[in-house]
Amino acid sequence: MAQPLIITLDGPAGAGKSTTARKVAERLGYQHVDSGAMYRVVTLAAIQNLVPYTNEALGQLAGKIRIRFEPSFGGQRVLLDTVDVTEQIRSAQVTANVSEVSSFHNVRNAMVQLQREYGLNGGVVMDGRDIGSVVFPFAQIKMFLSADLEVRAQRRAAELAAGGNSVETSEMIEALDKRDKYDSEREESPLIKPEGSIEIDTTNLTIDEQVEAILEIVRKYQQTYDMITAFGDI
Ligand code: CDP
Repeated sequence: MAQPLIITLDGPAGAGKSTTARKVAERLGYQHVDSGAMYRVVTLAAIQNLVPYTNEALGQLAGKIRIRFEPSFGGQRVLLDTVDVTEQIRSAQVTANVSEVSSFHNVRNAMVQLQREYGLNGGVVMDGRDIGSVVFPFAQIKMFLSADLEVRAQRRAAELAAGGNSVETSEMIEALDKRDKYDSEREESPLIKPEGSIEIDTTNLTIDEQVEAILEIVRKYQQTYDMITAFGDI
């Protein structure tokens, strides 16, 4: 009997975590939780309400707002209280502020609590920066997705271009590099390759190949689990 697992995907921006996590979740009938979207919602709320960037003020805000994911065709919508903010949380202003906002202890504390609630019954694929290291260090399957900076920047620039916003790849390289450094060097839950995680370098892979690679790891895990829990002769 397949047990519902917790699958974590961590890695830097543009490694393909969110799309991969969404597709893996779809294939397994699991819930996808994009933890980055949660930090983006807090950041948007802070900007809208002119909340000062202090641990107290941002922590209070993070504990007060309601963040919800609602299933929708081809993905999911993200709600701040009752407002659909799916597009707004991807704005340049939110992107420029999210690393700083998510570096505050009280903000992380509030988000990690919510994230752990999502994982209570398993059957979750969660992607982010600290999911396999802090949120679910004992998850059954922990992945770390990486890719060359230039390729990640090209992917991000192409995503933005598809949405009608053009950005030079060189500008994107600089922006991603800056955010990666900030995320990796911060004191609170920095981006690391979690202990016991399996790394996939996605530089030369398509999304479907990444999804298949993870599903294969899940299948092996389930087979091993089935074998050791089955009774009878060898
Ligand atoms: O999609 P992209 O890789 O651009 O970033 P994201 O997953 O939306 O995350 C945005 C930012 O939120 C990251 O750069 C981190 O600063 C922060 N974050 C975090 O601190 N911890 C997480 N578990 C997820 C995101």
